[in-house]
Amino acid sequence: MIRIRRGAKATGPASPVALRGPMIAWRGDPFDVGERRALRHEPDAIVAMADGRIVHAGDAARVLRELPQGTTVERLPRNSLMLPGFVDTHVHYPQFPVIASRGAQLLDWLADYTFPSEAAFANARLTSRVARAYLDENLRQGITSAAVFCTVHPGSVDALMREALARDLRIVAGKVLMDRNAPRALRDTPKRGYDESKALIARWHGRGRLGYAITPRFAVTSSPAQLEAAGALWREHPDCWVQSHLSENRGEIAWVRRLFPRERDYVAVYERFGLVGRRAIYGHGIHLAEREWRALAASGAAVAHCPTSNLFLGSGLFRFDRAKKAARPVEVGLATDVGGGTTLSFLRTMGEAYKIAQLCGWPMPAVHAFWLATQGGARALDLEGRIGNLAAGHDADVVVLDLASTPAIAQRMERVRGIEEALFVQMTMGDDRAIRETWIAGRRQHDRDHGPAAAR
Ligand code: GUN
Ligand code: ZN
Repeated sequence: MIRIRRGAKATGPASPVALRGPMIAWRGDPFDVGERRALRHEPDAIVAMADGRIVHAGDAARVLRELPQGTTVERLPRNSLMLPGFVDTHVHYPQFPVIASRGAQLLDWLADYTFPSEAAFANARLTSRVARAYLDENLRQGITSAAVFCTVHPGSVDALMREALARDLRIVAGKVLMDRNAPRALRDTPKRGYDESKALIARWHGRGRLGYAITPRFAVTSSPAQLEAAGALWREHPDCWVQSHLSENRGEIAWVRRLFPRERDYVAVYERFGLVGRRAIYGHGIHLAEREWRALAASGAAVAHCPTSNLFLGSGLFRFDRAKKAARPVEVGLATDVGGGTTLSFLRTMGEAYKIAQLCGWPMPAVHAFWLATQGGARALDLEGRIGNLAAGHDADVVVLDLASTPAIAQRMERVRGIEEALFVQMTMGDDRAIRETWIAGRRQHDRDHGPAAAR
């Protein structure tokens, strides 16, 4: 007899569990094969999990024949839909306390709100408190994997990794490297940044589901010597990630041009220091030229599209038509970019991505948005086959949506004709109230209707 455990602590192997209800998963990339062929919709599915992995995911009648005798299958409530956990490909957890700070575009916003907030992360108690609040909000929003910027303080990485390990979340994160154009208290040096990052790699990279990202904030705040050191570190640890910012704001781009007058464009700056390639992921990429898109595509580097941030900071409109040119598509993930971004709700983030695409002449289908939020993010982080899909062998990261989470959504859902329209209603009207359950590596870590795991 296999028992269902609710909100177990993430220690030791997860017990086998099986959930029954409707499911969506992926057969392919909708940007490549179109939404009809990409989407796998099973109206009556079973997702069976053991030891943190999915062992079966598909049509219930078929899976039932393969489940071990006596396996308990938990039926999900009405209006449920299982899907892969969301992948946030770019976010700053130290900015969670200053989310929704009004009135400035990127460079002033950094100086006025972000840097003061990050300076407080010298304090270990505050750091742990914010890390816990941020990760618990991820669970509430169905985010099961994230690429996270910390601050310049190594302790900010330790706190996040410790708390992520306790929740078994898949977190890729790193200490921000910053040796110029920032307040003194937030600056390191090329050597100190290198040494501290190397020690953090040794402590955290590959532990549980954690990975390290070498994190030069952006070309404005790192000297050539620091970018050189970051490139050297990546060559020494090629299975680590690189994350940074790229071509977000016109003032930022002009500043980079003044700082690196010999480079032909913004991407060329990072290329010069060996920071462009697979497992490199760059936030924004709003104002890139064709040469830059080509260089990203050829190298396998990815872009994190941050719709709520781009609107909130007035940065500009992301161009899917340019990113996804058929001859040289660039990997794109979706991201909250909190605190420039205004929410950790992935449904809200998808809704805003749709509106940006609309303003650029493309009414993005819901299938594309849900793919970007899950398997697209996995691909952008070079984790395809591990996360982002409900299929045997993948990490058992599952979101259970409530498709009728508010009266307004419930009445709209009465009129939908098919799964694509149902998904579109969710991403346009839904928010955290639609996240019924979040399963992390085979454990239910958020249960909207029964409270947090620790309280049960
Ligand atoms: N560019 C450099 N740092 C940041 C940051 O913290 N947020 C955003 N949105 N852009 C950046
Ligand atoms: Zn950012």
